Amino acid sequence: WPFHAPYVKAINDLKKERNAVILAHNYQTPEIYNCVADVVGDSLQLAKLATKTPADIIIQGGVHFMAETSKLLNPGKTVLIPDSKAGCSLAESITGADVRLLRQRYPGVPVVAYVNTSADVKAEVDICCTSSNALKVVESMGSDRVIFLPDRYLAMNVQAQTKVKIIAWHGACEVHERFTAEELLRYRADDPSIQIIAHPECPPEVIEVSDFAGSTAAMIDFVKTKKPKRVLLVTECSMASNVEAETKGTEFVKPCNLCPHMKRITLPKILESLVYMREEVTIDPALAERARRSVERMIELG
Ligand code: 13P
Ligand code: SF4
Repeated sequence: WPFHAPYVKAINDLKKERNAVILAHNYQTPEIYNCVADVVGDSLQLAKLATKTPADIIIQGGVHFMAETSKLLNPGKTVLIPDSKAGCSLAESITGADVRLLRQRYPGVPVVAYVNTSADVKAEVDICCTSSNALKVVESMGSDRVIFLPDRYLAMNVQAQTKVKIIAWHGACEVHERFTAEELLRYRADDPSIQIIAHPECPPEVIEVSDFAGSTAAMIDFVKTKKPKRVLLVTECSMASNVEAETKGTEFVKPCNLCPHMKRITLPKILESLVYMREEVTIDPALAERARRSVERMIELG
């Protein structure tokens, strides 16, 4: 990517000078993922790695809730997000006040929150989960009913695998809710041998016609270990470009749904972030204390 080279060099030099680290989600564009990220991964991997970095400054290549999670786990470090408007339709679908109302409506029922939520919401719940451990977290609550928020599709996909009765919120990911079973079946009709792998934020009928469902990291592992001849990644489409660059012998079919929030993070904004030390993520310490416990409980589960 010759056009990106000056940014890549400037970012990597400044990172060293400032003792900064870039944590990038699998949906970041290839030039971020391959050229400036120190660590790449899914939400769970990034949350775990955020606890281990010796750097003084964390730059989050991802959306705002991910930067908040890094700050929760590193209260003493400076966490920067190159564009604080990088939101998430799931995180925006619910507030802490909504969780308090849910608790009034279902007294004593434990509350599990997908990490795609604000710190305000995390502070009100019992535990967090990601798409890679949602089933395990729900079953760890030891309750026959669990409130699961905010993703109704992830909730339905977990419900299909457990006897625990799930009470779901109505949020949805604006990227994954757009995939349909009909479109996947058309790909399958064209090539019956194609492997279809989907993110569990997709509607259940999409998961039903897929060969595998898992977090972004699990999808990448699937491609790298099973080495399918042709694969359809039913998720944000930068990820297919990232995995494609790391895999030989697999042809990627890419239905291109982009996450507009993830795409707000660009090389020029990362550079600006490092130069001007902005935009700093701050969380009220009392709220952070409660929100941190929900994330730590998830990490402790392993
Ligand atoms: P993962 O935890 O699978 O990376 O998912 C995060 C996300 O935002 C998917 O849309
Ligand atoms: Fe949120 Fe969906 Fe974007 Fe992931 S892809 S950050 S869930 S809007």
